Amino acid sequence: MKFGVIGAGQMGGGIAQVAAQSGFDVIVQDVQQEYLDRGRGVIEKSLAKLHEKGRLSELPDEVLGRIRFTMDLQDFADCDLVVEAIVENQAVKNALFEQLGGIVKPEGILASNTSSIPITALASASGRPERFIGMHFMNPVPLMALVEVIRGYATSDETARIVTATAQKMGKTPLTCNDFPGFVSNRILMPMLNEAVQCVMEGVAEPEAIDGIMKLGMNHPMGPLTLADFIGLDTCLSIMEVLHAGLGDDKYRPSPLLRKMVQAGLLGRKSGQGFYKY
Ligand code: NAI
Repeated sequence: MKFGVIGAGQMGGGIAQVAAQSGFDVIVQDVQQEYLDRGRGVIEKSLAKLHEKGRLSELPDEVLGRIRFTMDLQDFADCDLVVEAIVENQAVKNALFEQLGGIVKPEGILASNTSSIPITALASASGRPERFIGMHFMNPVPLMALVEVIRGYATSDETARIVTATAQKMGKTPLTCNDFPGFVSNRILMPMLNEAVQCVMEGVAEPEAIDGIMKLGMNHPMGPLTLADFIGLDTCLSIMEVLHAGLGDDKYRPSPLLRKMVQAGLLGRKSGQGFYKY
């Protein structure tokens, strides 16, 4: 299988790495050479670590040798499956899928790793809605077992079958849901993170106490504020906005503190500060 990945960031790099580890020929695209170089560097480090721990069945260079980096979308013409992992912005994703729909061979499947944008809308932009699907990997991709497979309104059974089988070949457990705001994962997770932010705003407890209570009390591996910082507070806010707009109920209203922190540039781990300092 020829496996395409668009976007060499946190998620795209991880998806490309795991696809290559599974024996697929992989091609990765980004808009600047600098982003491709950074993505390659992250993959190299991750492969070296896995090798050290004895968790790679071949040498890191052999895996890396199956990944090609490019800035040219035309190189995706012969891909069997292309997974998009670019910025979480519907207009930008629409424009990309319109282009890809005209480049990738007609029988190729297009997939989005989006956290919250409607799969059915992106499928329409691609011009091949039967061969379009959500393939939502979890962060960090090399370590997390789940792929949430999201069927759009027109996704064919054959597309769902191929994508599910591919996720299994990548060593992941695919679980399927339908296209509703936030799918399953973020519809349930994000309101909890948002509620934790609301607890900070209302002075219910300090961040350390909130995280400690949820970790020790609920056996969560990580507290909700630590997790929000890890995901990125801007990403959390945009997902809450999608849930609020799409589902209507005020229980999905983004916490004003979350909005204010994003306005202040406190985005979590990636900006050096969120609920904690990094
Ligand atoms: P990121 O910011 O680390 O990477 C995005 C990459 O896409 C950047 O390298 C950027 O240069 C590139 N890019 C932007 N526009 C592009 C275009 N038009 N063509 C090609 N490349 C382009 O973002 P991250 O965290 O990897 O997120 C990517 C997607 O994955 C988003 O849709 C996000 O919602 C989703 N996601 C993120 C998770 C997370 O925990 N960060 C978890 C699951 C899904």
